[in-house]
Amino acid sequence: MSVLRFSLPLLVISLLVNVLLHPLTSNSDAILSTPNKNILLLTAHPDDECMFFAPTVLSLTKHHHVEDGEGNEKPLNVFSLALSVGDAEGLGDTRREELGKSLDVLGVQRGKRWIVDHPELPDNMTTHWDANIIAKVIEPYVREHHIDTILTFDRHGISSHPNHFSLPAGVLQYIANTPVESRPRLYSLITVPLIHKYIGPAASLLAKFDVKIAALFDDSTRANIHKIPVFVSGAGDWWTAIQAMLEHKSQMVWFRWLYVAFSRYMWVNEWIEVPLGSMDV
Ligand SMILES: *[C@@H]1O[C@H](CO)[C@@H](O)[C@H](O)[C@H]1NC(C)=O
Repeated sequence: MSVLRFSLPLLVISLLVNVLLHPLTSNSDAILSTPNKNILLLTAHPDDECMFFAPTVLSLTKHHHVEDGEGNEKPLNVFSLALSVGDAEGLGDTRREELGKSLDVLGVQRGKRWIVDHPELPDNMTTHWDANIIAKVIEPYVREHHIDTILTFDRHGISSHPNHFSLPAGVLQYIANTPVESRPRLYSLITVPLIHKYIGPAASLLAKFDVKIAALFDDSTRANIHKIPVFVSGAGDWWTAIQAMLEHKSQMVWFRWLYVAFSRYMWVNEWIEVPLGSMDV
């Protein structure tokens, strides 16, 4: 009896730790099965890339590869475009540098990352960015680099920041302006209800549980559109995301420490494809 009393909690703890250690990806084919496999992360401010998107970025840069035709594996082409320097407090120059360092940590290479400072796209909690301007600003990057998948916020923008939730509408505008054969696909990061947002590592456990349960009930005759791409970080990737966040020195005020400790988005990203013409952005 006493053996059981000690060994059972130990067993449960070791199981949980084991589950937390490993990254997990589900239905990523939807995002990866494009012809060029050139993926663009579109953000609004320096630090979005690690506060919200790190599980996806790290999975794409560290855990996924493409074949180069001769059987050799090479890294995926992951690009990053931030549409403001984050100058709301006059720290634009500093934050531009911090973004570069953060992307170094996340594995997005120089030459594949850009930051835009446009008068019509100011870093401002109360400013909605115009979809036509976003479409125009992203166009040269998307076209020149044959981007076929764009990852960005959804219409709630995770934190309800209007700069965030302006982005999917801007991308849809770009897609509408583009000939059918060269249109990229748009995926939005799903905003979860507040009650699920700050559950820390439990988010990883629950997301993995969901994926496993979904696999149990998997019905291959069902259309793929019901399957959402999910990226769950392991403890190693979570730690890398923290390192990236620490590069944003100007932003590490006390409540951001709380954020990185408890936010679900440091562990889990779920995506939904946004079709053209959908109002659901
Ligand atoms: C944000 O925009 C509002 C008006 O929309 C303006 O009053 C305010 O000064 C702006 N804030 C910054 C930091 O530029």
